[in-house]
Amino acid sequence: MTKQNRSGLARNLTHYGDPDFSVFLRKSFFSSMGFSREMLNRKIVGIAYTGSGFNNCHRHFPELLDAVKRGVIANGALPLEFPTISLGEIFLNPTSMKYRNLMSMETEEMIKAQPMDAVVLMGGCDKTIPAQLMGAVSANLPAVQLVGGPMMTSKYKGERLGACTDCRRFWAEYRSDSITERDILEVESKLATTAGTCAVMGTASTMACVAETLGFAIPGSAAIPAVHADRLRAAELTGNLAAELTNNPIFPRELVTVQSIENAFRVILALGGSTNAIIHLTAIAGRAGVSIPPGKLNELSDSTPVLVNLKPVGKHYMEDFNYAGGMGAVLRELKPLLHLDCLTITGEELGNRLKEDCGYVDRSVIASSDEPIDQKGGLVTLFGSLAPKGAILKRSAATPELFECIGKAVVFESLEDLSNRIDDPDLDVEPEDFLVLQNAGPASPSGMPEAGYLPLPKKLLACGIRDMVRISDARMSGSAFGTVILHVTPEAAIGGPLALVKNGDRIKLSVSEKKLDLLVSEEEIQERARQFKSQKQETGVSRGYEQLYQDQILQADQGCDFEFLLPKE
Ligand code: FES
Repeated sequence: MTKQNRSGLARNLTHYGDPDFSVFLRKSFFSSMGFSREMLNRKIVGIAYTGSGFNNCHRHFPELLDAVKRGVIANGALPLEFPTISLGEIFLNPTSMKYRNLMSMETEEMIKAQPMDAVVLMGGCDKTIPAQLMGAVSANLPAVQLVGGPMMTSKYKGERLGACTDCRRFWAEYRSDSITERDILEVESKLATTAGTCAVMGTASTMACVAETLGFAIPGSAAIPAVHADRLRAAELTGNLAAELTNNPIFPRELVTVQSIENAFRVILALGGSTNAIIHLTAIAGRAGVSIPPGKLNELSDSTPVLVNLKPVGKHYMEDFNYAGGMGAVLRELKPLLHLDCLTITGEELGNRLKEDCGYVDRSVIASSDEPIDQKGGLVTLFGSLAPKGAILKRSAATPELFECIGKAVVFESLEDLSNRIDDPDLDVEPEDFLVLQNAGPASPSGMPEAGYLPLPKKLLACGIRDMVRISDARMSGSAFGTVILHVTPEAAIGGPLALVKNGDRIKLSVSEKKLDLLVSEEEIQERARQFKSQKQETGVSRGYEQLYQDQILQADQGCDFEFLLPKE
């Protein structure tokens, strides 16, 4: 058997200088797991398994894994799961984002090193889907994404609750003393009550919809609740499809193209999806050698309507989205704007998937393109002297009255500085000021946390203020809202203009012109630049993954990937 036509256990052999001996040895050791010879000779579907005690969102993965295996075996292949890193969003210090690339590297290497003919990627919580797709694109072995699905909502005093938009809303109420300690403790136990990912159109659900749009997941699977029987059926079908791919392969780089990436950007915009998804999609595209020109998002945003009325932008939850028609309904509304000839993992082109009517659509949740929620997409890239390579604003989650204004900068030099001073009664801040956070970007010691949703000063909260312009090089949770300008690039830690902003500087925001400018003279900027001292160099890091991260991390406009993971060709 030549290397080219080896399959199943005979793939990716351990080297002993005698390939036939390697196969013999592997089969004999594998027999110790009790498989029959018939099973040992089957093609293999690897299952990248991310169940973890540190990931509540993947609590139901053991049951899903059984269903995937059922589907693989029913279609004649052998399912073998392998553990990979799991990134539970709220369990990681300083932020899960710091480990997305590590997970993608591990996923890629385990796909490439182990004997498998296709792979099922079981992910869900925010960074897991992008990490798995990045790894799969780099490994370029047939891959099907199975997402965990969203949590169900719960109730508090008759009001529906779901992580995590409501987490932030109630926390703001608590900070402003509008609710008591007892209230917040009760809310705490009711926000996340089932297995699954956050219940709103946050990063996890946006990325699940992206995976389906790119063609990596079976149609209609993105929004099925985690605990629904349909989720198990989707898992079985996913396993079945992966087994099919062992004989009739379709490769990830056939799915990730300029056209499919454009489709996915349009979907993010129509969903009013997470700002994080822009970074992740850019990184997935980058692994296939597809780069996103500056201004592309604005071009697509201006011609893509917002269709979905879900929190954090609207009022419904993911389970409503599923029952309202889900991604099938959204994609059908966007059809005239999409590249319909993109290949999907089932072998059909996207247009074929969308040929049939999708049936009932609840228009209170998913609007028609004739009567959209908004004519323009939910996200906009701002450029200007404060963000030469761009910054993101989720305009659909922001306050329109703040879209055209000039504000005085109230600067926090780091996350520590922010937490030390934001509630200081002596803080010199007015509602019309701009809160500016520096040194929270990808190359900073904090690794670009979801800290861009700066807390409002307590003294302004007490006066009833619920939104202000906030600017940073950090990210924001997909479930957050407000006039929050994020991903300022280049970031402060590497000397971007954000690092040079001082208290009292004036900053001009114009959403209509897509501009963000620091109103300080060029001479003064140059003088401040001469005095700039990089935070990046002050970390004193000298070993391990931290060192690799510091050496390789790219900026937000390149998806915060590692430079050495981009394709060389
Ligand atoms: Fe896992 Fe929100 S914490 S998706």
